[in-house]
This record gives sequence, C-alpha cells and structure tokens, in this order.
Amino acid sequence: MDANIRIFKTADDLAGALAGDIKELIGINDRKGSVTIAVSGGRTPEMIFPVLAGKYSGQVNWQLVNIFWVDERCVGPDESESNYGMAKKLLLDRVPVPAQNIHRMRGEEEPEKEAERYSAEIMAFTRARNGLPFFDMVLLGLGEDGHTASIFPGNEHLFDTGSVCTVASHPLSGQKRITLTGEVINNAGRIIFIVTGKSKAEIIAEIINEHQESNKFPASYVKPVEGKLAWYLDEAAGSLLKNISGHGDHDSI
Ligand code: 6PG
Repeated sequence: MDANIRIFKTADDLAGALAGDIKELIGINDRKGSVTIAVSGGRTPEMIFPVLAGKYSGQVNWQLVNIFWVDERCVGPDESESNYGMAKKLLLDRVPVPAQNIHRMRGEEEPEKEAERYSAEIMAFTRARNGLPFFDMVLLGLGEDGHTASIFPGNEHLFDTGSVCTVASHPLSGQKRITLTGEVINNAGRIIFIVTGKSKAEIIAEIINEHQESNKFPASYVKPVEGKLAWYLDEAAGSLLKNISGHGDHDSI
C-alpha cells in the first residue's frame, strides 16, 4: 500500500503532527483563502481535538478552515453520541473557526432528506475535482470491525454509489447514520487515518500489508484517486507493522 505511516509515542505527538499538517495545508492553500477538512467522530478524535485546540491551536489560522463531517449519528447535536457535539465541545468552541465555516450534518433531521441536503451543502462549499466534491483533508477513524466513516462491513458498495452522502445503519444498534460515500473520501487531497490502541493493530497490519483477507474491511477500500494517504498511529496500534521506525521517519504527506 502506498501510504505514509507515522507512529507516535503519545496522542500529544499525534495531535502535534496533525496541527502541523493543517498548518502546511493552509500555507499551500492560502492563495485560495480556505481549506476544507472533513472530520470523523469516535474516541480517537476525542483524544486529539483537545490537544489540537489547546497546545497547537496557535499553529493554525483557523479562520481559513472549513469544517465538515465524514459522518454523523442520526441524533440531535446536544446528544452525547453526536459527532458534531463532541467536536464542538472539544475543538470548535476553543478555536476561532468562523461559525459560517462549520458545516454540521443535522442528525436530528430525516436521514434521507439530510443526506440530500448535506450533499448540496458540500457541493456549494467545496471545489470539484474529478466530478466530485474535493476535500483538502479527510480525517478517518478505524472501527474494530474495519469500518471507517459509517461504511460498515458488507457495505463496500458505498465506495461506488454516484452520490456524495448517503444513509447507513450501524450493524449492531441499527442506528441510522449519515455518511460521506467512499468515492468522495477517495477524492480527497489528503486522507489521514488516526488510530490508537492495540485492538486495531491486527486490522491495520492486514490492511497496510494488503493481506488477501483485508478486503472484508471497508477501510481497505480507502485508496486516494490522486491524493495522499497517511496512517497516524500510536505505538500500540502500529505494533504489528514491520520495518516502520518512529514518527520521525516519513515523507511529508
Ligand atoms: C463514528 C466514526 C467512526 C469512527 C470509528 C473509530 O461516527 O463513530 O466516524 O467511523 O471513526 O468507529 O472510532 P474510535 O476512534 O472510537 O476507535
């Protein structure tokens, strides 16, 4: 797999690298005046966002950042499961991203209608590339079943839908989700998986080493069309990867 793999001792180091990447992205894009970043939910961003908002906030010209979501649970913004609610509390209330630059998936709305509305919002506020919306950066997590965004095992067809957003359901809870489709994810300029914890080490090794079995993991379908893919891992998540030295040894993503 053609990916940049960086292994960090601490979540703080991982967050610092991410802040540096966002800063670099803005530096490249400042002629356009803004960058578009789609963020995921889950436990890992919960760890990274506070560090980004705290220690590294000054590194990023947040006024130039447009925040979108990779996926959202179909719950209200104030509910504990809301990816927006988590990002608001841990990041957006603590950095000066202009309100009009925060593009929330409305989890409280009727899912199909919201998928349609949000697709239109994305197309209105992002550039197009290859006939699809183009995100400068997409931050992805990895579930223990190999899902990413809200594309769960058995739903690999969501990498080829002809749509921008769609409605998915969590396989265990049945909870409805709005999610970016896989083709929009793969159309991004920089796709960064941020993954921590030993429980993901085996899946990561299978995906990165492109084991035959890895195609049962939706995350293995994340292959940027023109952009760059990176895995930002803590030592536990990266523990089964061979020949990868510390986070200092990498190309710039
Ligand atoms: C969500 C996320 C989901 C997440 C993975 C990994 O809405 O839950 O978008 O795709 O990234 O489940 O979550 P953790 O970071 O908690 O392992």
